[in-house]
Amino acid sequence: MKNINNQNRLNSIWTKSLARNLHPNGNALVDHLKTIHQENTGFTEACASSCRDEAGRNSYEWLSEVVPDNASLCVLDLACGSGPLLKILFDRNKNLNLKGIDMCPEELVLAKTRLKNSGINLIESKAQNLTAINDNSIDIVLCHWALTLMDPIVPVLDEIKRVLTSEGQFAALVDGPMNVASGYAEVHDLIYSYVQEEIPCYGEIDLGDPRIRGSESLSNLAHKAFPEASVTIETNVVSMEGPVTKVAEIASGFFYAAFILKPEKRKLMIKNLSNMLAISKVSKDNERQGRFSMPISRLLVRQSIKSIK
Ligand SMILES: C[S@@+](CC[C@H](N)C(=O)[O-])C[C@H]1O[C@@H](n2cnc3c(N)ncnc32)[C@H](O)[C@@H]1O
Repeated sequence: MKNINNQNRLNSIWTKSLARNLHPNGNALVDHLKTIHQENTGFTEACASSCRDEAGRNSYEWLSEVVPDNASLCVLDLACGSGPLLKILFDRNKNLNLKGIDMCPEELVLAKTRLKNSGINLIESKAQNLTAINDNSIDIVLCHWALTLMDPIVPVLDEIKRVLTSEGQFAALVDGPMNVASGYAEVHDLIYSYVQEEIPCYGEIDLGDPRIRGSESLSNLAHKAFPEASVTIETNVVSMEGPVTKVAEIASGFFYAAFILKPEKRKLMIKNLSNMLAISKVSKDNERQGRFSMPISRLLVRQSIKSIK
């Protein structure tokens, strides 16, 4: 992870539009996300791999379970970022034909370094336009923590449908319902209260298409894009414990909103978040410990009841 405490205030076309109470368009969203990922390359992986569910799995491992172990399938990681999910799949089964797509070149550089000599095809492209991928050529499309960021979303789902084989599957890891992880809504509200001091309508207008954020609207969207498919959404919770300031830094990394804060405001937010996340347990070296829990959901779209083997 490079520079999660960026010293410059984030000022993208997206935040400028929001500050003027305007609804930013898709290009402004792309510019905003690229700016955050350019300045904080690899932050998602640093946060997501730190949190585990009750069975000991992080969210990459939970999503990767959709891919059977012993098959030689073609799998596309859509919005692969720095490539942690591809690495898990590659280490597990060398017979997979793996591809990764992302629109952020800095994240792809990290992915290329980590996956050197793997033969995995990494492509810079937007998810709305997967011209590098042939029709009916992919068995499984995975998307870890990125569907929530995509707007427009319908062309993305249409592209996924186009590239999948007729028995193909699409699985995505997205935020889960706030109320399933204890204390999560309070963390969300605290971070957003700081952000809204700078940009009052942040939250009312947020990244991506709001339909991805609710289970029912997500399910409706998936049914519409894949009318013949079975659609399921499972919920899980991942958590972490550790020195409380580190826990607060990692927790805030799950919220893109936190990246727009000015450094001094961000420091204050982390201090208050640390107080919120502190638990009574104290480590051997007397450092205050903290705990953070995050709700996650796994969307699974199966185009055929015959399972992929
Ligand atoms: C939260 S990160 C997740 C990265 C990776 N999947 C992971 O979980 O480590 C979101 C990623 O989505 C990518 N992304 C967002 N919108 C995209 C779009 N429309 N097309 C392609 N990539 C996109 C960003 O560049 C970023 O790398």
